[in-house]
Amino acid sequence: MCGIVGYIGRRNALPVIIDGLKRLEYRGYDSAGFTILNNDEKYLTYKKAGKVKDLEDSIDYNVYTGNIGIGHTRWATHGEPTDINAHPHFCMEGKIILVHNGIIENYKSIKTKLESEGYIFKTETDTEILANFINYNYKNTKDFVKAVQVSLAGVEGTYGIACLCRDEKDKIIAARKGSPLLLAVGDGEFIIASDASAVLNYTRNVIYLNDGEMAIITKNSHILKTIENKEINREIEVLDMVLDQIEKGGYEHFMLKEICEQPESIQNTFRGRINFTTGVAKLGGLEKVLPRLLEAKRFIITACGTAWHAGLIGEYLIEQFCRIPVEVEYASEFRYRRPIINKDDIVIAISQSGETADTLAALREAKKFGATTVGIVNVIGSSIAREVDAGTYIHAGPEIGVASTKAFTSQLMSLALITMMLAREKETLFSKTLIEMAQELKQIPDKIQRMIDRKEEYKHIAERFKNANNFYYLGRGVNFPVALEGALKLKEISYIHAEGYPAAEMKHGPIALIDENMPVIFIAPKDRTYDKIISNIEEVKSRKGIIIALANEEDDNIKNYADYILRVPRTLGIFAPILNIIPLQFLSYYIAVFRGNDVDKPRNLAKSVTVE
Ligand code: G6P
Repeated sequence: MCGIVGYIGRRNALPVIIDGLKRLEYRGYDSAGFTILNNDEKYLTYKKAGKVKDLEDSIDYNVYTGNIGIGHTRWATHGEPTDINAHPHFCMEGKIILVHNGIIENYKSIKTKLESEGYIFKTETDTEILANFINYNYKNTKDFVKAVQVSLAGVEGTYGIACLCRDEKDKIIAARKGSPLLLAVGDGEFIIASDASAVLNYTRNVIYLNDGEMAIITKNSHILKTIENKEINREIEVLDMVLDQIEKGGYEHFMLKEICEQPESIQNTFRGRINFTTGVAKLGGLEKVLPRLLEAKRFIITACGTAWHAGLIGEYLIEQFCRIPVEVEYASEFRYRRPIINKDDIVIAISQSGETADTLAALREAKKFGATTVGIVNVIGSSIAREVDAGTYIHAGPEIGVASTKAFTSQLMSLALITMMLAREKETLFSKTLIEMAQELKQIPDKIQRMIDRKEEYKHIAERFKNANNFYYLGRGVNFPVALEGALKLKEISYIHAEGYPAAEMKHGPIALIDENMPVIFIAPKDRTYDKIISNIEEVKSRKGIIIALANEEDDNIKNYADYILRVPRTLGIFAPILNIIPLQFLSYYIAVFRGNDVDKPRNLAKSVTVE
C-alpha cells in the first residue's frame, strides 16, 4: 500500500506533491511526508503521523521553493504510524532519501549485514534498511543508478520506490516490483506516482512501469531500464480519463458520490456489449479465449474482499445458467494451499484496483500450471489487467472511497454479461430468456436511480440504528453473498460488528445471539426463496430480534413481519444482487456519518492492498 509521488520540473515541487498525495490517500493515510531539494541546494524534509491534510496544515509553502522532491502517504506495515516512521527515510549518512511502497521481506538479513558494517538504524521500518543498503552499495559503485540496481537485485519482497541522492542531486530514481508506479511526462516536467489520479491535473501522458523496471529522471530526460540495466523503449500512453471523474463533484464524500453514480457506472459496464433485441452479449476482451471458456471443465474465481463477494455471486450465476462448475477462492488462501489447477481450467481474477497483491499472486500461480487466466478489472493498465490472457474492464470509473460500491455492482454486471454470453453459446438458456434478460438489464440503471431517490428513507432507518453494537445480515441463494457484502460495508466504515449468514444457517448457532437488541437485516425479495425467508424471519421474531427487511416495492405482505423496510425494485434473479446491495450501501454510509466516522478513509483500511 502507501502512495508515492515524485516531481521534477519547472514548477514548485511541493504543491504538486501534496496534491498528488491527497489523491493517493485512499492507498494509506496514517502518516505522510516529503523531501524537497530547495533552490539553495539544501534538502528540506517534513513528515508527520496523521493525514495529508494534517501535514499540509502544519507547513508554510513559502519555505519550500525547490522543484525536485518526493512524497509519501503511508499505510503502516513495519513499524507504528508515528512521525519518525513516516517516509521519506534516510540512510545513516543522510545521502540517500527514499519513499517506498511495499514490504522488504529479507529486511532482517540485510539489516544484520549492514549492522556488521557499522550501520545504525533510527526507525522500525524496512524502508530505512533499504535506504542504507543503497548507500552501502553507493560506496562501492560511486554511481546512483548502479547502487539502486545492485540493492534492488538483493531485495526480496515488493517495492515501488522514489529515491534521491545528495551526490547526484539532479535526478530521481523510481523503480517497481509488485507495487504500481507510473511516470507522467509533462511539458518540461515529470511526475512519478502510484497511480494516474495523482498526475491528471498536469498531464495525461504516462508510461506504466512493469515489475523489475526503473525510471531515471532529470529535468530534461527520462530513461527507462530494467534492474539488470537493459534499456527499455516504451511508448507514452495517453490516459482516457478526466479529473472530474475523480473529484467529489459537490457530494460530501466520495463514497456517497460513488453510490449515487451507479446508474451511470452500470451503464458504462454494459454499453456496447449487449443487443437488447436479440439478447446477445458480447465482450470483446474475452473473444480470443471464448473457445477455451466454452470447453472448460471448471472455472476458479479468485479475489479478495468485496471482489470476492462478487465472485460468490458469479458462482451462482455461472453454475445456474451456464452449467459450468465454479469454485470461488480467497486469493490469499488459494496460492498457499497447493491448489489443483489444470490446463483446461479457467482462472478468473476479480479486482477493482488490479493491484491487490494476493490476487495477483494467485493469478501468477494459476499461470504456472498453464490455466487460462481472465481478469475482471476496473483500473485500466493495472498489473492484473496486463498479466491475464484476456479480460474485461468493468468501466466503473475511478473509485476513491475505500469501501467499494460502484465497482461491486459493475463487477456483478460484468459477471451477468459473461453468464449471458456463455449461456447463449452453450445453449443452456433459450434465446427468449436471454431477450427477457436483456430487456430487464436495460431498466437496471433506472431502478437504481429509484433507490437513490429513496435515500432519505434509508437514512431514517440508519439514524435509528446508529448506536447498535451488532448486526446480522441474512439472505438466501444469490442474496447470501449480498448479505456478506452488506455486513462488510457496515464493518468497514461504521466499525459496528456485523455478520452475514445464509438465512437458513441461522438456526445452527447464530440464533443464540438473538435478543431484543439485535437488528437483523433479511434480504427478502419476491423470488423462489421468499416463503422460506419469511419462515426464517419468524424464527428471529419469536426471539424478539428486530427485523429490518429488504423487500420489493410492491410487497405488502412483508409489513406483517418487519419492523423496518428497505424498499427495492423487483428484477430478475440474475440482476437482483445489483439492486439489493444499494440500500445496504446507503445504510452503512449513513450510519457511519451519524457516528461521525471518516467515511472515505476508515481506520486501518486501505483501498488497494499491495502487500500480502
Ligand atoms: C481492500 C479494499 C476492499 C477491496 C479489497 C480487494 O481490502 O479495502 O474494498 O474489496 O481490497 O481489492 P481489489 O482492488 O482487488 O478489488
